[in-house]
Amino acid sequence: MKHLLKLSDWSTQDIIDTLNLADQLKYEKKNGIAHKHLEGKTLGMIFEKSSTRTRVSFEVGMYELGGHPLFLSSNDLQIGRGEPVEDTARVLSRFIDGIMIRTYTQKEVEDLASYGSIPVINGLTDYAHPCQVLADLMTIREHKTLLEGLKLCFIGDGNNMANSLIVGGIKMGMEVAIACPGDYKPDAALMKWASENGKFTCTDNILEAAKDADVLYTDVWASMGQEAEANERKKIFKDYQINNSVMAVAKSDAMVLHCLPAHRGEEITAEVFEAHANEIFDEAENRLHAQKAVLVKCMGD
Ligand code: CP
Ligand code: NVA
Repeated sequence: MKHLLKLSDWSTQDIIDTLNLADQLKYEKKNGIAHKHLEGKTLGMIFEKSSTRTRVSFEVGMYELGGHPLFLSSNDLQIGRGEPVEDTARVLSRFIDGIMIRTYTQKEVEDLASYGSIPVINGLTDYAHPCQVLADLMTIREHKTLLEGLKLCFIGDGNNMANSLIVGGIKMGMEVAIACPGDYKPDAALMKWASENGKFTCTDNILEAAKDADVLYTDVWASMGQEAEANERKKIFKDYQINNSVMAVAKSDAMVLHCLPAHRGEEITAEVFEAHANEIFDEAENRLHAQKAVLVKCMGD
């Protein structure tokens, strides 16, 4: 049984196969070719945090694959009242064919997978956002033709997005440069793995990280669950912004990506955002195609 709990569990070949299938499903959708690979199957989608893109793309994706999406807000589930994840996992496994979960701890996602008997897909934790990074890699490949050898620079907080970009980028042969404040570095074990398996740097020097980058990426300064720290984070992260000075040191044809939602004037200027809106909204669209590929890979026959 195949889960997508974090990208480090997947091989480079798994990622390539998923990106290829995502391209094919995108083509089929645009050309009106049916691709109902999950007819009769139900995906439960547990959300313990807000979402626009993840919720809509999984829900539409399941529908387009011929299956049924079931939105399960933690406010309405007994899990929100303290029913253990190990019981929820075993109950849901009797009813449905797969689970997508967006929550806080990575442990909850791993527990769901180990107690349940159906595929589990991570729709974002504080630690990782693998579905987003598959869509990101798909978008970069669409715009740049290939991934290997490109320099990917992430500017911002070293949490879920940075962690998953490191894994996805290094597995696909990209150079990954992270710029973040010293106390907000990505996961130490992942950084060690990246240094041993590819070209990886982590610095607090934004211009050094962005130099000659092919892709610049950023994310919010305060993630979901960190709202109380937002003011303090505005001070800590104030220089960690994609703006014209950063664009000036990157390659002249550098792409800009953002997982969204974006805060213009914080992690990215409105000017840079609008100049690269085409890439950023291709990236958002590709959540649908990439996740349909993940659903087929995890839940298909
Ligand atoms: N990028 C992303 O995961 O967006 P949502 O929070 O809207 O799902
Ligand atoms: N780091 C952000 C990503 C949102 C898609 C968060 O966790 O809120």
